[in-house]
Amino acid sequence: MGRLAVLVSGRGSNLQALIDAIDTGSLDAEIVIVISDRPGALGLSRAEKAGIPVQVVAWEGEGRREAYFEKIASILRAANVDLVILAGFMRLLSANLVRAFPQQIINIHPSLLPAFPGLRAQRQALEYGVKVAGCTVHFVDEGLDSGPIIVQKAVPIYDHDTEETLSERILTKEHEALPEAVALVLSKQWQIRGRRVTCES
Ligand code: GRF
Repeated sequence: MGRLAVLVSGRGSNLQALIDAIDTGSLDAEIVIVISDRPGALGLSRAEKAGIPVQVVAWEGEGRREAYFEKIASILRAANVDLVILAGFMRLLSANLVRAFPQQIINIHPSLLPAFPGLRAQRQALEYGVKVAGCTVHFVDEGLDSGPIIVQKAVPIYDHDTEETLSERILTKEHEALPEAVALVLSKQWQIRGRRVTCES
């Protein structure tokens, strides 16, 4: 059974999707720790309700960036985790943290990468005028939303869409994509060739 750490900054609905997938038996894993950079994050109460240990590591400013992520790395090591999941964690990890957990950190992003990395991806998609949007779960590398892609799911964009309606449609797919990607990564039935994540048959 995989030992998971989930990092959140806010609402935590993707964390909830993982908790639910574990509860219903569709994901064979245990969330051993939830870490947040924000004390009031709703994700923390979701974790507590599910009996998962939480830790708040409050952001101390850009000047303390390396020390901040070193602190996170020690928590992750102490919890002996197999996989780290960024589920709405709104900070770019330090290169040292990424290197300390090679191919063990994944992120969920609300666009079909490589389109629209960064903040407010749904709004970027609407403003660009694309007709298809979606979400991506990918391995985290040292760049911004740039690592090898594990799972993607697409949704249509309609003429009447607003940032809110599109975000909601994408979010429903995120909640399917994340547990699916976690199960795949934990299965170890994958390889990375170049940028391509492929499954062994
Ligand atoms: C999601 O849209 C995720 O893709 C993005 O931040 C949002 C987090 O939502 N990285 P939640 O906190 O999981 O509800």
